[in-house]
Amino acid sequence: MPDIPAGPRTPSAPPTSTTSTTSPITPTSGGAVRRRSAGTWVAATLLALATVGSVGGAAFIALGLYDVSATGPHLQPVHTLLEFALKQAVRQRADAHPPPADLLTPARLQQGAACFRDRCVACHGAPGVAPEPFALGMQPVPGSLIEGTRHWRHQDLYWITRNGIKMSGMPAWEYRLSEDELWAVVAFLDQLATLTPTQYAALSASAAPSCRAISEAPAALTPPLPTVELAQRAFRQHGCTACHIVPGVVGPATAVGPRLSGLAGRDKIGGRVPATEQGLADWIRDPRALDAHTAMPTVGISDTQAKLMARYLLSH
Ligand code: HEC
Ligand code: HEC
Repeated sequence: MPDIPAGPRTPSAPPTSTTSTTSPITPTSGGAVRRRSAGTWVAATLLALATVGSVGGAAFIALGLYDVSATGPHLQPVHTLLEFALKQAVRQRADAHPPPADLLTPARLQQGAACFRDRCVACHGAPGVAPEPFALGMQPVPGSLIEGTRHWRHQDLYWITRNGIKMSGMPAWEYRLSEDELWAVVAFLDQLATLTPTQYAALSASAAPSCRAISEAPAALTPPLPTVELAQRAFRQHGCTACHIVPGVVGPATAVGPRLSGLAGRDKIGGRVPATEQGLADWIRDPRALDAHTAMPTVGISDTQAKLMARYLLSH
């Protein structure tokens, strides 16, 4: 776009032609005036289009015309745009995580097979294995990862598995797979397309049940996050915001459980434990051990993560 108005001063343009940045008309050479008014027209047209577009978009949404159902697919252009956005976003971020040089060791493949069987196959299926019925009703439908491994590099597969994909149903596994397990899954995905159904069945039957059960943040977060943000992320990543409003954490306006504010001044938490960091962490980690009748579920959280959340709640 070389013809933007009021651009840098060029030797051919007289000084007066660039002094005003507001008026498109200046009493100088005809070329400059034409260039500037053409630029103004382009800008005005774009602005008008943007205004019509956003008013139209707002009306489309306000009138309830946008089909949010999972039975109705995206329009093809939207689908294509989203796919492009995904590709660009992943490529942009994934290089911060180079794969280990010896990615495809037998031990990693074994471990990856176990994690894939326990965490992925329900949605993505495998050679000779259909996804679970619930996954077939998802929109977008979780694709076969045989196709996925054709167009993603190892570091891309790692990034997607670790971080998930917003608004698609692909979960983030950052807190539920260790760093080693994440790379093990990537190693397994590398081999997935080469496996016959019989080989897959044998491998997944023999793989050790070694996938992590307790949720813990992965060792290396790049870039490292401040403690407050880590805690906010922990609330989101452990489903707390599905039932509670947590101060400072984005989430739905929900009142299944009480709003988690003002806990520091309280006598007891959940009517059971003292409102200290340890008491609160004990409740967050295993509320049902403290009160067999509580509706709050025991999610499966490490002590470190529970303490991180407890400390946050006592200071907010
Ligand atoms: C609850 C269902 C669900 C589970 C469980 C799940 N995924 Fe996904 N996954 C999705 C959805 C939905 C998408 C987005 C649709 C698509 O492009 O396939 C997706 C996309 C992906 C993609 C990108 C695929 C592509 O072709 O662009 C990868 C890679 C992936 N998942 C890996 C995994 C791994 C590895 C696991 C297990 C650790 C896993 N997923 C578990 C639902 C799931
Ligand atoms: C399925 C809904 C649900 C989820 C998910 C949930 N909670 Fe709760 N939580 C409750 C309910 C309900 C209570 C009220 C206690 C009761 O009824 O026994 C509660 C109570 C609490 C309390 C005590 C509040 C008070 O005023 O004494 C804290 C603290 C708490 N939850 C933190 C969390 C954290 C942190 C998470 C995420 C790890 C979480 N909860 C996940 C439903 C939930």
